Amino acid sequence: MAKVDFFRYGSTICAMKIAILCFRPLEEKLSYEEVRLKKAAMALGYDAKIFMAVECELSFDEKGPSVYYRGKPFPKVDVIIPRVSLLEDVSLYASILKQFQLMGIPVLNTYDAVTRAKNKLRTLQILSHYGIPTPRTFVVSQRDDLKGAIDRVGGFPVIMKSPFGSWGAGVMIAESFRNALSSLDLIWSAKNSKQHMILIQEYVKESKGKDTRVFVVGGEVIASMERSAKKGEFRSNAALGGAGREVSITKEYEDMALKATQLLDLEMAGVDIISTKNGPAVLEVNANPGFSELEAATGVDVAKSIIERAAALPVM
Ligand SMILES: Nc1ncnc2c1ncn2[C@@H]1O[C@H](COP(=O)(O)OP(=O)(O)O)[C@@H](O)[C@H]1O
Ligand SMILES: [Mg+2]
Repeated sequence: MAKVDFFRYGSTICAMKIAILCFRPLEEKLSYEEVRLKKAAMALGYDAKIFMAVECELSFDEKGPSVYYRGKPFPKVDVIIPRVSLLEDVSLYASILKQFQLMGIPVLNTYDAVTRAKNKLRTLQILSHYGIPTPRTFVVSQRDDLKGAIDRVGGFPVIMKSPFGSWGAGVMIAESFRNALSSLDLIWSAKNSKQHMILIQEYVKESKGKDTRVFVVGGEVIASMERSAKKGEFRSNAALGGAGREVSITKEYEDMALKATQLLDLEMAGVDIISTKNGPAVLEVNANPGFSELEAATGVDVAKSIIERAAALPVM
């Protein structure tokens, strides 16, 4: 029998209400993850509904901060699971999460945690400060600093990353200085480029297009897979054709993934760990990890674990 938490609203007793909040344009169809989360919640006996962030309005009046949905006060829910699938600085959009938190509704993951993890530069600051290994990286803000930064991280090939990429988009490899400079100019001239900062990172060639995705929920590793980039590609992301296979990870990998997740204050995270000649290093900590490839590769019911954790979050 599925475990169901019941809550009392006035004199009525009803099943816990879970909101899955999607940050995609209305015209895009729901993702695998959004649908899976809803189904997993219903299967556990919860009342689950999908909401679109774009249809939320933030209200500030004499009663304080609140949220409207399609022109009416947001329905009463017990917990929010956001899917912040945006390819840019999310600090403004994700304010909706903070609004729910201010209303006392638990959110998995919180505003601060999501904005921290989405920003690869902020993530590096935290990981590096607390001694979690990461590939050598410089962040530059002007063309003139590009050459020196590339030399200092070990020369070509070199990895260039936008601070707000996802799914491998925004991660480039440059084989020569001409190549690096022209990529930089292209990125910085893009219409949506709001900030002139770029990460110049040591290319971990010994990884041979492989890394490990470790999925953490509620302070525990629930599944892991090794991802291999498809032929001709160095990025292992599933969105770019990377293939996953189940792996059992070492204690070192597990501790690293758990510590990185905890440092970023995430309840749920997909930690990308790459194997370097000096041992494992964290590439990124994903606050909105996809899990379609992971469920297929491992058979683990990731959606169920997420729902169980969301339902157990303490009320704020
Ligand atoms: N420094 C690096 N050396 C080698 N491969 C890398 C490096 N950084 C990223 N990659 C490859 O590119 C993929 C995407 O990089 P990542 O930093 O995780 O960005 P994204 O948020 O787009 O997934 C990684 O999973 C890995 O396969
Ligand atoms: Mg990644």
